[in-house]
Amino acid sequence: MVSLILAAGMSSRMKSKYPKVTHRLCGKPMIQWVLDAVFGVADKVCVVVGHQAEMVKQVLPDNVDVAYQAEQLGTAHAVMSAKNFINPTDDVLILYGDMPLIRQETLQKIIRAHHSGDYDVTIVSVDMADPTGYGRIIKDDAGEFVKIVEEFDASEEEKKIREINTGVYVFKGEKLLEVLPKVKHENRKNEYYLTDAVGLLEKVNVYKDSNAEDFSGVNNRIQLAEVERILRRRILEKLMLEGVTIIDPLSTYIDANVKIGRDTVIYPMSFLEGETSVGEDCVIGPMTRIVNCVIEDRVTVTRSECVGAHIMCDVSVGPFSRLREGTVLYPKVKIGNFVEVKNSKIGPNTKAQHLTYLGDSQIGENVNVGAGTITCNFDGKKKNQTVIEDQVFIGSNTALVAPVRIKKGAFVAAGSTITQDVPEWSLAIARARQENKPDWVLKKKQKEEG
Ligand code: UD1
Ligand code: CA
Repeated sequence: MVSLILAAGMSSRMKSKYPKVTHRLCGKPMIQWVLDAVFGVADKVCVVVGHQAEMVKQVLPDNVDVAYQAEQLGTAHAVMSAKNFINPTDDVLILYGDMPLIRQETLQKIIRAHHSGDYDVTIVSVDMADPTGYGRIIKDDAGEFVKIVEEFDASEEEKKIREINTGVYVFKGEKLLEVLPKVKHENRKNEYYLTDAVGLLEKVNVYKDSNAEDFSGVNNRIQLAEVERILRRRILEKLMLEGVTIIDPLSTYIDANVKIGRDTVIYPMSFLEGETSVGEDCVIGPMTRIVNCVIEDRVTVTRSECVGAHIMCDVSVGPFSRLREGTVLYPKVKIGNFVEVKNSKIGPNTKAQHLTYLGDSQIGENVNVGAGTITCNFDGKKKNQTVIEDQVFIGSNTALVAPVRIKKGAFVAAGSTITQDVPEWSLAIARARQENKPDWVLKKKQKEEG
C-alpha cells in the first residue's frame, strides 16, 4: 500500500504567512501527525506540495517522497501531479494534510473495509453534527451512492445532509489513473475536484465510520485550537493510563514527544514541551514550564521555568527558579527561589537557595552558595568562567568576577567582591572594613537640638 498526502493548497482561510500543514499542534507540525498515522499502514508515502513548497518541505521527514503541484487547480489536479507515484496494480490511500486527528487504527479499519469487496474506491463518510464546510454524500432513494457535492456547490436542500466526505480514500491505482484525466472543473470554484473522480467510478464503497472526531479538517484557526485540544486530551489520557498522575488535565499542556515515568505527579498550569523526558516519582508544578529538558527520578520543580536543562535524581528546583540552556544539576542539588542558572554544571549536594545568578560556571559538590551570589560572567565583550571547587562556602551577597577560581574548601566572606583566585581552605574577605563610631547618633542629636 502506498499513500498520497495532499498539502499543496493555499490554505487562505488560515490567514497565515506560513503553510497550514506546518502549523504546530502539541509541538508537532500538523502534517507530521498525519504521517505518523499513515506510516503505520503504508510503506511508501508521497506528499504533494505546491503553495509555499519550500516551507512545507522543511518540516517533512526524510523518509517521504515529494511531488510538486505547480498550480493549485484542485484536489484531483494535486493527485494528478503525483501520478508517477501511483502504481496501477496497487491500492493507493489518499488523504489530506489538514486532518491531524486521523489515527492508524482508523486507517486500518478503512483499508479492511476496502478489501472486504471488489471496489474501485472506498470513500469514508461520517455524520457530522455541524457539516458546514465539508462535501456532502449524495445518495439515491435506494441508499446507493450517487456523488459528493462540495459545500460551495450544494443546494440548500443538499446542505442539510449531515453525512459528509471525510477526505480519506482508498483507490485501486488502475481505476484512479483511468478517471483522473476525465475530471472536469465545472463548478463554482473552477477546480478539479478529487470528489468528482469518485463520482466517475462504478464500484464505490461508502464506509461510514462512527467516530467523527478523527476526521476533523483544519481550515481556520478556530478549528486549529479545537483540534489541538483533542490531541492534548489524547496525550494526557495516554500518560494517565501509563501511570502518571495529572491533577488537572484541563490546565496541563504536554507535547507529543514528552516522556514521563510512573508515579510522577503533574500539578495544574504546567507546560512540558519539546523533547522532554521526566523520570519516576517526580513532582512537577504547579505553574511550571519545562522545555527540552532531561529530568531524572524524584525531582521536584515548583513554579519555575526550565529550558534545555539536565536535572539529575533527587534535585529540587524552585519556587521561582529559572534554568537556562546548558544547565546540568547533579544529584541532590537544591536550587531555590529567584535563582537563575545558565550554562553551568552544579555538583552533587550543592545548594543555591536564594536570589542568585550562576552563569558559565562549574561548581563542585557540597558547595553552599549564599543568598545573593552573582557570577559576573560578562565583561562587556565576552563570557568568562567561574570555577568553584568542592566544599566551598560562598557567603551571601558575593560578586564573583570571572574568570575566577575558588579552590577546594575555601570560605568567602559575605559581601565580598572576588576578583582573584582563592587558594584551598583559605578565607577570602574582599570588602571595606567596618568602622564603629561610638555614640555618634547621640552626639548628632544633641547638636541638632542645640
Ligand atoms: C475537501 C473535500 C471535501 C471534504 C473535505 C474534508 C475536495 C474537492 N473536497 O474540502 O469533500 O469534505 O476536504 O476535510 O476534495 N490541496 C492541494 N492542491 C489543491 C487543492 C488542495 O494539494 O490544488 C490540498 C490542500 O492543501 C489540503 C487538501 O488538499 O490539504 C484539501 O483541500 P481543502 O481546500 O482544505 O479542501 P476542503 O475545502 O476542506
Ligand atoms: Ca480542508
